[in-house]
Amino acid sequence: MRDQAQNLRKVMEHNKEDIKRHTKVISVISGKGGVGKSNISLNFSLSLAEQGKKVLLFDLDIGMANLDILMGLMPSSHVVDVIEHDRSIWDIMEEGPCGIQLIAGGSGLTKVFEMTAAKQDRFSQQMALLDGCFDFIVFDMGAGASEDGLNFILASNETIIITTPEPTSITDAYAMLKYIHSKDPFLTSSILVNRTESNIEGKQTAENLQRVARRFLEKELSILGSVPYDKHVLKAVKQQSPFRLKYPASPAAKAIKACANSFIGKENLPEKKPAFRQFLTQMKGFLKRGPKND
Ligand SMILES: Nc1ncnc2c1ncn2[C@@H]1O[C@H](COP(=O)(O)OP(=O)(O)OP(=O)(O)O)[C@@H](O)[C@H]1O
Ligand SMILES: [Mg+2]
Repeated sequence: MRDQAQNLRKVMEHNKEDIKRHTKVISVISGKGGVGKSNISLNFSLSLAEQGKKVLLFDLDIGMANLDILMGLMPSSHVVDVIEHDRSIWDIMEEGPCGIQLIAGGSGLTKVFEMTAAKQDRFSQQMALLDGCFDFIVFDMGAGASEDGLNFILASNETIIITTPEPTSITDAYAMLKYIHSKDPFLTSSILVNRTESNIEGKQTAENLQRVARRFLEKELSILGSVPYDKHVLKAVKQQSPFRLKYPASPAAKAIKACANSFIGKENLPEKKPAFRQFLTQMKGFLKRGPKND
């Protein structure tokens, strides 16, 4: 009963806002694992929220979901509860700092890809309720391109690829971009370089990747910026508190804020396609391919 009352209040709060937001889905991806996707997704989302954007952070790292830990939250429900237990999408959100909402992944996420047709419809209907309620839905993806994850990446309206300046990380980022490009040449992508030793190193790494993508894929990538290697990140992780809030004056916190501002600056260009409806159509498409019967 308490749950129901809380959820009703959440729905009312969402409806109370008269603004219909232009909801856009962004997936944060990488080739190599451990480059900082989850930390960047979280602190980038917080920086967007600090600029007045309404953000839903969606942990889509199947099997290794950990945003809840980074935020010091203990979610009582997961995506699987929408699929298996008829909970609403609002039920499974957990409120984080700066008003961001989190949908925690959990290992049950694989169920998304094993749904019966009836459950798919319900899941899609629940996802459709998000339209207009958020400015950004940020997917924190697993590393590389598992087929399941790739479907969500391709359905997104845009991607942010994270790399470090290490050659192995750059090569894997390029391989990932190439793969995505072969599936959808029109997906907008931008680069964020993490764990840099200097701004110059970040700039050079991003520009190299940009140049290679332009030359070999004829793909234009925009550069969001870079985040330096900073011990405050690790400290914040240990304290289960996002570095943007725990250490706002740290180099990493300032840098991620600048990346978010650069992102918002690009978003302000007059391009208002019905992004979320495109995402939903693509999501329904990939869920339908090969559904199991009831
Ligand atoms: N800018 C940074 N400075 C210092 N340490 C960092 C920085 N960014 C990330 N880290 C550290 O790198 C580790 C991996 O970060 P994170 O979990 O965000 O990576 P990931 O790409 O999400 O990993 P996975 O591929 O396993 O999902 C963490 O322990 C974090 O503390
Ligand atoms: Mg991660």
